[in-house]
Amino acid sequence: MRIDILTLFPESFSYLNSSILKRAQENGLLEINLIDIRDFSLDKHKKCDDYPFGGGAGMLMSAQPIYDAIKSVQDDNSFIVFPSPSGEKFNVDIAKELSKKEHLIFICGHYEGIDQRIIDIFSPLEVSIGDYVLTGGELPTMVIVDCLSRFIDGVISRESLLEESFSSNNLEYPQYTRPADFKGYKVPEVLLSGNHAEIERYRKEQSELITKKRRPDLLEKIKN
Ligand code: ADE
Repeated sequence: MRIDILTLFPESFSYLNSSILKRAQENGLLEINLIDIRDFSLDKHKKCDDYPFGGGAGMLMSAQPIYDAIKSVQDDNSFIVFPSPSGEKFNVDIAKELSKKEHLIFICGHYEGIDQRIIDIFSPLEVSIGDYVLTGGELPTMVIVDCLSRFIDGVISRESLLEESFSSNNLEYPQYTRPADFKGYKVPEVLLSGNHAEIERYRKEQSELITKKRRPDLLEKIKN
């Protein structure tokens, strides 16, 4: 998969070039390109924002640099995503759908948002990562790219995907590694027993307890 990220702040994306996503790129599973929207500004000072018509707080990103940046990478297989607090709520199903696309283009908004005509022209998928407003689309883009990448074949192991939270509408059970006793805090005996059926039963029970306590809404989702 190829992902082109259009942003005014390419320097903020170093996270995507570390750890698991770095390895995915080295292994050719994923190609992530950062495109500086400012490079496309036709303004002599490379300005990319302006005052909103009708007044109001702050500045808006102008249509022209974003339009030209999109056109420079868009082809017939491109799917455009615009992270925005006004978008539909991002979840694991959207991540799975996005992971099947051949080419994704992310538009990172900043300031008070972007000129509506970009949305009218390109009809991107607008997604929100939660009911709060961040200063820009860079962090939401990283969240979405990280999450969808995990569903690309080969990026992480199949077992990890199956066991994790949300794959069965339950939150994940607690996990421990060595030592078995850390400052007097002991690993639950059953995990040291070698009895796989018992271990599985314990984990399922923990998973259900945690979900019931913290996210009863997820259990409602199974019933409905
Ligand atoms: N941009 C600013 N806040 C956002 C949010 N909550 N989700 C997606 N994009 C955003």
